[in-house]
Amino acid sequence: MSNVVIVGAQWGDEGKGKVVDVLTERADVVVRFQGGNNAGHTLVVGGEKTVLHQIPSGILHPRVKCVVGNGVVVNLEVFLEEIAKLRAKNVKVTPDNLLVSDRAHLIMPYHQRIDIAREKGAGEAKIGTTGRGIGPTYEDKMARKGLRLCDLLDEKVFDAKLRAQLEEKNHYLEKRLGAEPFTFDEVADKFHTLAKEIRAFVGSTAPLLDREMRAGKSVLFEGAQGAQLDVDHGTYPYVTSSSTVAGGACTGAGVGPTWIDAVIGISKAYTTRVGSGPFPTELTDAVGDALRKKGSEFGSTTGRPRRCGWLDTVVVRDAARVNGLTGVTLMKMDVLSGTDPVRICTGYEIDGKVVDEVPASLEVLERAKPVYEDHPGWTEDLTGLTTFDALPNTAKSYVRRVEELIKTPVVMISVGPNRSETIVLQDPFAMPKRWQGK
Ligand code: GDP
Ligand code: IMO
Ligand code: MG
Repeated sequence: MSNVVIVGAQWGDEGKGKVVDVLTERADVVVRFQGGNNAGHTLVVGGEKTVLHQIPSGILHPRVKCVVGNGVVVNLEVFLEEIAKLRAKNVKVTPDNLLVSDRAHLIMPYHQRIDIAREKGAGEAKIGTTGRGIGPTYEDKMARKGLRLCDLLDEKVFDAKLRAQLEEKNHYLEKRLGAEPFTFDEVADKFHTLAKEIRAFVGSTAPLLDREMRAGKSVLFEGAQGAQLDVDHGTYPYVTSSSTVAGGACTGAGVGPTWIDAVIGISKAYTTRVGSGPFPTELTDAVGDALRKKGSEFGSTTGRPRRCGWLDTVVVRDAARVNGLTGVTLMKMDVLSGTDPVRICTGYEIDGKVVDEVPASLEVLERAKPVYEDHPGWTEDLTGLTTFDALPNTAKSYVRRVEELIKTPVVMISVGPNRSETIVLQDPFAMPKRWQGK
């Protein structure tokens, strides 16, 4: 048995869904531990695409239990829609293989309306959120004003808490944001109906994980977003409102750190970002456009075009440090075919000095000029390759150089969106706990 955490090593959309789907083969339980339906995780099996926002990416494997942990914020309508869509494709989704924590917080309609109204009011200064109400839901959680799934199961408790919240939220919506308020009845009626549909899937998830691990089962922890979107370690305030790093797996699933055996960071072979905020290696030229086109870089949740740029090893090295990464996967290597040279950012020049970490202050980061190293490209189509040896020499040396720069071994290389288009160099479920690397 082994317990493996999967986290995004950049600004999200690195291909976490694909990796979780591939590795679920080796797991017994897959658990989401933070974020909500701001996430969009894409799985492609035999050419058929499934995009998941709330349900763990292990769901296509009927043998495995999927768990939505206490650290996740849940939009119940989206959750139930996702179940219906999966069932329509004959995917097994029952309370036997899907469980949601009774401690998870509910994304309420007022959270989403606040998120949208604030972004609209912020103009140029907007964060570029997904507009799913994620920030306001986590704010309420920390302010101890949130509504949890356990509240929903008791109508009386739920109604009392909702009434108190609506009073406050309506005032804020109307008076501060100039947005429409909600009536108690419209929200309460909707949630009473949702409660009936969700009840069978709600339970106590941390004790379940504990039982499974004590029985020698393997758990895969599925992160959402990425290290640079982490509320502590990312490019604040252009971040999401949760702990996206490996430490978040422990708090968000209710599992102690001593249970974790490996932490795998998912990185593209280049960089993308959706939403506003700094992006030192961004390419606003034809090369960036070509990456967007070849890599189909449009958001899985909002459809927004993703900003594209060179691989930034300052960013991935940061992720290796804050997550204690034992391995990294390099996704979308196929997309770089035909690009020559391929540039790698090795550091930032700030005020005449070269630094090798992302500075805290955005004002300082704004002045960062990426230091690049040029690497010869390759023209061969990598799709369909199944071994490292089969890669062109220049692609091999690119991977080896990236490993050196991020001080972490590459354990998997992805050469296409399909589950099968994956080169495994090391099995994350059978790796030494800490890499004694350079
Ligand atoms: P996640 O949020 O980290 O799960 O990533 P997304 O699903 O939002 O975005 C990754 C996108 O890249 C999806 O459309 C995947 O199908 C696709 N993808 C993943 N790996 C590869 C790859 O190796 N090559 C190509 N061409 N596409 C990939
Ligand atoms: P996955 O799990 C990429 C970004 C938004 C915005 C910022 C804050 O698919 O990798 P939020 O709605 O969370 O308050 O938005 O975070 N963002 C993501 N970017 N992938 C995601 O998830 C993201 N989830 C949020 O674009 O910049
Ligand atoms: Mg995504």
